[in-house]
Amino acid sequence: MVDLFGEARMLMAGGKGLLAADESDKSADEKRLAAFGIDTGPEMRREFRDILLETPGLEKYISGVILYEETLEQKGDGVADVFPISLAKRGIIPGIKVDQGTEPFPESKNELITKGLIGLPERLAAYKEKYNTGFTKWRAVITIDGDRLPTAQAIIENCKRLATYACEVQKAGMVPMLEPEVLLDGNHSRLRAREVITKTMHALVAALEDQAVDLSGVIIKTSMAVSGKDSGRTDTPEEVAEDTLGALMEAVPASIPGIVFLSGGQTPDEATANLAAISKLVKAKNAPWPLTFSYARALQEEAIKVWAGKPENVPAAREVFMARLEKVSNALNA
Ligand code: 13P
Repeated sequence: MVDLFGEARMLMAGGKGLLAADESDKSADEKRLAAFGIDTGPEMRREFRDILLETPGLEKYISGVILYEETLEQKGDGVADVFPISLAKRGIIPGIKVDQGTEPFPESKNELITKGLIGLPERLAAYKEKYNTGFTKWRAVITIDGDRLPTAQAIIENCKRLATYACEVQKAGMVPMLEPEVLLDGNHSRLRAREVITKTMHALVAALEDQAVDLSGVIIKTSMAVSGKDSGRTDTPEEVAEDTLGALMEAVPASIPGIVFLSGGQTPDEATANLAAISKLVKAKNAPWPLTFSYARALQEEAIKVWAGKPENVPAAREVFMARLEKVSNALNA
């Protein structure tokens, strides 16, 4: 039997965090490459992953990396092992995103529901056997629109699927990372974000209990409570910390071995400053779970800009990537 609690705690340990590098092929092409004027396609995606995953010293700040299927079979330049094996050799736990993206929720067409349960047990067994993945991720998307959205039905259906996913992952001997992302899009207030995060976490915990998921063997990945992107308001890190931790302490039981944050479209500096304020408050309030980062955009953005798709820029891109990792990791000790 795999010690899921121990595995989860390993991901949270040592002042380290996680790198989310699990963009689907389409998202990697459109949002990470083309958005910065870089060519797209499998080879460019490999080079993009190579910069991040083969950065010397990555293991100083990173305990685990969330990968996407295509990356499992790719290698860095001059590296003998495929990425997941190369990471494991440096003490970094490879994880894999296993949801298959979103589709419109039939009962409320402006909301999204995540798919990927069909054939999941077979895929999980194959990932574990071939790449020794230690954890997996499933992302659900929760949209805020005034008081209208999210609907209770969309929250409940997404949480049911998260719980079914978690059951299968635990059976396969891996830690499920449950990510109900409350989107930053919209003009809602920070307090509305806090309310929706609280509701979503309550629904998630209820669904997990319903399906007898072992709460001590999961990681929760959450958004921070921040004002909507179009609200015209920038919250202070202290405000974000107060409302984020307020939501989590109200809804997430102490038995959960760890909570990680997504960056969700915050700038790298915002995501770093907010994490520092949360870390401070966690100590002051004696929060029961360890918390760390599991960022994609906030860790990658500066490196992608410097790289710009040019091989000669790789060393400089890795340098800014490491500098950001150091800052984010320092934020945990604020
Ligand atoms: P961001 O940090 O860019 O939000 O990505 C994290 C993630 O895993 C999204 O699914």
